[in-house]
Amino acid sequence: MNEAFLHGRLLHGGDYNPDQWLKYPEVLEEDIRLMKMAHVNEVSLGIFAWAKLEPSDGVYDFDWLKNIIDRLYENGIYTILATPTGAVPMWMSEAHEEVRMMTEDGIRRLPGERHNFCPSSPYMREKMRAIDERLAETFGHHPGVIAWHISNEYGGHYGDCHCPHCQRAFREWLKKKYGTLDRLNDAWWSSFWSHTYTDWDQIHAPSRIGENTLHAQKLDWRRFVSDQMLDFCEDEIRSVRKFSDRPVTTNFMMFFKPHDYFKWAKALDVVSFDSYPAWHNEADDVRTAMETSMNFATMRSLKKQPFLLMESTPSATNWMKYNMLKRPGMHELSSLQAIADGADSVQYFQWRKGRGGSEKFHGAVVDHRNGANTRVFRDVTRVGERLESISSRVLGTVNQADVALVFDWENWWDVEDAQAVTNPVNYLKTVLSYYEALWKQGITTDIVNMDSDLADYKIVVAPMNYMYRGSYMEKVRAFVKRGGTYVTTYWSGEVNDTDLCFLGSHPLRDLLGIETEEIDAPTDLHRNEILYDGTKYETTGLCALVHAESAAVLATYQKDFYAGYPALTRNYYGDGRAYFIASENEQLFTDRFLAEVCAKSGVTSGFDAELPYGVTVSCRKPVEKGHGDDERTPLYFLQNFNYADTNIQISGAYNDIETGNTVSGEITLSPYQCLILE
Ligand code: GLA
Ligand code: ZN
Repeated sequence: MNEAFLHGRLLHGGDYNPDQWLKYPEVLEEDIRLMKMAHVNEVSLGIFAWAKLEPSDGVYDFDWLKNIIDRLYENGIYTILATPTGAVPMWMSEAHEEVRMMTEDGIRRLPGERHNFCPSSPYMREKMRAIDERLAETFGHHPGVIAWHISNEYGGHYGDCHCPHCQRAFREWLKKKYGTLDRLNDAWWSSFWSHTYTDWDQIHAPSRIGENTLHAQKLDWRRFVSDQMLDFCEDEIRSVRKFSDRPVTTNFMMFFKPHDYFKWAKALDVVSFDSYPAWHNEADDVRTAMETSMNFATMRSLKKQPFLLMESTPSATNWMKYNMLKRPGMHELSSLQAIADGADSVQYFQWRKGRGGSEKFHGAVVDHRNGANTRVFRDVTRVGERLESISSRVLGTVNQADVALVFDWENWWDVEDAQAVTNPVNYLKTVLSYYEALWKQGITTDIVNMDSDLADYKIVVAPMNYMYRGSYMEKVRAFVKRGGTYVTTYWSGEVNDTDLCFLGSHPLRDLLGIETEEIDAPTDLHRNEILYDGTKYETTGLCALVHAESAAVLATYQKDFYAGYPALTRNYYGDGRAYFIASENEQLFTDRFLAEVCAKSGVTSGFDAELPYGVTVSCRKPVEKGHGDDERTPLYFLQNFNYADTNIQISGAYNDIETGNTVSGEITLSPYQCLILE
């Protein structure tokens, strides 16, 4: 990221809704005082403020906003300014029903809520352009405005819109993709159940009361839904860019299935992310930490640059099943975890709790009572101080990975829709189990999709890679030929990009040195076992039945009629090697096997210590621009997710960049401690 817009600071701040407090001027003044106390240097403004910015059709009032941006700027606080399409005003959705989404049953939604507009509505587009351009013209060069927050969590509340505008746009999208109905019919295998289309108008969005059986059609609909909302976002970006050169971002959500964020990221200057882990919901925080880390890794991998942590809660949320308070130390650790894994900011939802509405009890820096005199406010202030002190060391550094983990949205959509013997499959959970093995070792891992360049990695791990798309197979072959290590699993290489099954043999048969045949989906009562290098591991899900050809068999099944069949194979190919893991196995196996694969390729965390359970390390290094450009050494964020003292034996000697102390030998990390070492 070109981090110039950060003005040399890691950002600390977040969502601020003064538009809810315009009748309380004293609150606004108090906010500025408290923000300075908490070392807040940024706020995200105007996210849901359309009704205050355009109180009635074509009547704009930006004076209040100007006044607030000015006052903040005078006090050293920057603004990330939102376009207000996150919620449409009541006057608009009441008067023009086409802005409201339509459900898959053909029912028009009623006015209200948020994230509620149809992305294809011409009227909505027109109103959006009008207000976005005006905002950009008015504030696009204000010295206090450092970036644009385009809309908010696109697609966040309701699924897809099935209105006539969207149906028409879907057909246009298909015409562009396939050109002729003949090609579409072939790609969709529509001879199935007499689905042959003879007119474009016969095509409708998939629906529970309509078509639901052509997986290729459903896949294209998912692609369209993501593309169409992205098209709306790009329209917003163009409107803003007419008058402003400030970088644009829009806030992404945790593993949000409907939108292909790899595609979305291309439209943005900076990726930003809203992170709401369910801390303390499990017996310990280790799984939650690992999942959060994979979210962060995804965000920084999208553009291979740092991202902004646009939202996180300073204490609890109010929308989960259990909304536990962050225990002492967790706010600091979870904030630093974001920085450790590639964020250049810690931002909150929300600065101040509203007096009414559904988020009045959602965690905030400032509560309804007690001003700065709260545990949460003190925690936030402490984070602000730490960020300030490490800013110059962290800015300009990035996480650099030797390992890539394939996590592909189209694969996600398609594999979970396959209706095979194997249902239900959980793609995300599967990928997470591989991330977990790497995270436990402190190995930096990039998250890539099938379009990504693989050339810079030593290891590529592609679990449940059901679909092969585009030039992916060729890239994998080239990668392994050059000496790379490829690890893939059962239920890979089944279909092409329109969900047509590959015929003849496995498409990477040459590379893997195996041929695949059947796949078993045993219930928990029929779990198999594999024997790997003298140790038995339980299988926990799918078991593929494969035959080794040129590959060596490293593990075999132990039970049932396929006892003795290969469970793990290795094939040398060019200068590299390819592993095939035939079954879903207990985590112990995945941990051990990936540790061995990393060791063979010389991939380590770079940090000289054996990591105990619950402790991980993340590394940020200066961006290599040219030789000798940046003399700074790598930074290691040593994070203890145990709510207990944890001993760790450190072989090397490191300098704690905050205290200046030398850290080596046996040390004790306190509960939820994060040390930043060089
Ligand atoms: C999302 C939204 C915010 C707020 C928070 C609550 O991230 O973007 O407006 O609703 O959730 O956790
Ligand atoms: Zn629509």
